[in-house]
Amino acid sequence: MDTKVWDVRDYQQNLNQYENLDEIKLTFERGGLVALPTETVYGLGADARNSLAVEKIYKAKGRPSDNPLIVHIHHRRQLEDFTEPINDKVELLMEQLWPGPISFIVPLKRGFLCERVSGGLSSIAVRMPSHSIGRQLLQYVDMPIAAPSANLSGKPSPTTFQHVYKDLNGRVEGIVNGDQSEEGLESTVLDCTQYPFRIARPGAITKSMIEKIIPDCVDDQEILDSEKPIAPGMKYKHYAPETPLTIINSFEGLENAKDTWNNSAFIVPDDKQSLVPKQAQLISLCQNEEDIKTANHNLYHILHDLDTNEAIQDAYIYGFEKRDDTMAIMNRMEKAADHHIGKGDNV
Ligand code: TXA
Ligand code: MG
Repeated sequence: MDTKVWDVRDYQQNLNQYENLDEIKLTFERGGLVALPTETVYGLGADARNSLAVEKIYKAKGRPSDNPLIVHIHHRRQLEDFTEPINDKVELLMEQLWPGPISFIVPLKRGFLCERVSGGLSSIAVRMPSHSIGRQLLQYVDMPIAAPSANLSGKPSPTTFQHVYKDLNGRVEGIVNGDQSEEGLESTVLDCTQYPFRIARPGAITKSMIEKIIPDCVDDQEILDSEKPIAPGMKYKHYAPETPLTIINSFEGLENAKDTWNNSAFIVPDDKQSLVPKQAQLISLCQNEEDIKTANHNLYHILHDLDTNEAIQDAYIYGFEKRDDTMAIMNRMEKAADHHIGKGDNV
């Protein structure tokens, strides 16, 4: 298949002046797949009402078919077509946190979307992205767009057009090029089908940010270590680069743990660089412990680059202490890594 590339980078504020906008809309209407930028990661979009189109998403990604998709909207009134009436608490959270990097799982009203989108569940995940191009595009096509991350299943999510192109060129009808995703990690997924709500996947919108709006509305249970995944996607291995990746919780005695560090990369905050073995290659994750927004933004980009750099045989990444704002990045790191150092494990 010939994959079209739509470069809209000069149309951030006025996408409707882009000359090929109708071609993108038509591609969606004909059941084609279009990868599009959002503020979290690029998504692989299709008309969520069209079962053949949604089927193609699973094929293009090589994704297990029981893993449900997030439906993207540009206006809350679209929800009336395919969700049960939204309860007041969820409504309030949507009002305050949308458009933005959070998806809500709410009860599904059957009949409008195709069954495959929700993987046969009685609930549906919904999100309104804030990305200027992503949002204008959703507005222009004016249909519910099912979109998982636009990567091959099991690979790190794409945060740039180039990442999407590498994985999906020849497998999808088109890719919208709209610069690097600002957040860099997938949205927070909040399961609102029971109360208190549960974080099914941590993201840039943290538990404390949600509870600033509605105190104590999120279950305290540490869901990330639970054996039973809430989001079906949690049971699949995700985000793994080809390069072996180890999380470092302590630098103590590290220098002598291997004969040579020449072909090793250390991905650490700038203020930890002096602790890294001398010959190793340094990759900047962020400035310091507090600079989590930068670390989130950079993580997948760094993981993608690891696999294209032949001088790097293995990589070591700085493990942050777990806090409200580090939950998301540590969740992704743990899925990408094979080992830990500093928790009693050896290299
Ligand atoms: O930031 C994002 O959320 C990106 C962009 C493109 O919006 N999308 C994304 O989609 O990350 P995906 O398909 O890669 O991840 C969706 C997650 C999966 O873990 C899936 O299992 C879970 O949400 N999910 C979707 N619908 C669900 C439902 N009804 N119940 C439980 N989990 C659900
Ligand atoms: Mg994904």
